[in-house]
Amino acid sequence: MLKKIEAIIREDKVNDVQNALNEIGIVGLNMFEVRGHGRQGGVQLVGRAGTYQVNMLPKIQINIVLNDRNLDIAIEAILKSAYTGEPGDGIIFVTPVEDVIRVRTRERGQEAMMYPGDIDMRKSQTVNKNR
Ligand SMILES: Nc1ncnc2c1ncn2[C@@H]1O[C@H](COP(=O)(O)OP(=O)(O)OP(=O)(O)O)[C@@H](O)[C@H]1O
Ligand SMILES: [Mg+2]
Repeated sequence: MLKKIEAIIREDKVNDVQNALNEIGIVGLNMFEVRGHGRQGGVQLVGRAGTYQVNMLPKIQINIVLNDRNLDIAIEAILKSAYTGEPGDGIIFVTPVEDVIRVRTRERGQEAMMYPGDIDMRKSQTVNKNR
């Protein structure tokens, strides 16, 4: 089963999260800037012209489609690396993915979500070494 993680995180945590994902061997991902708000509905800023409300706060959304056997380890890596403990640390959505088709090779599904040197390849190398 393929899953998609949409992790909406602080802009200044992007490098940490990327490094954490890279460390565990998550290779394929993309990200973009999003604006939105969660529980607090934005923040109040105090400027020279007085206080004003900013409703849509900028965050970075990291998207990862992956095999569900790697879901928990990826979520844990994001939780650890994106955390400050303050409001606004972000949110993670997980959804099922129907299919994936790589254009060049026409690989589909789980086969299309294998990358050289990724988490699955590392696991199989460890198995081979232990033989
Ligand atoms: N229900 C939702 N649907 C879509 N996007 C959301 C939803 N809730 C939050 N977001 C997005 O996720 C971001 C995360 O917000 P934030 O970290 O403030 O979460 P929170 O739920 O308010 O928790 P906290 O209390 O820790 O701040 C928001 O800025 C918004 O972009
Ligand atoms: Mg919030």
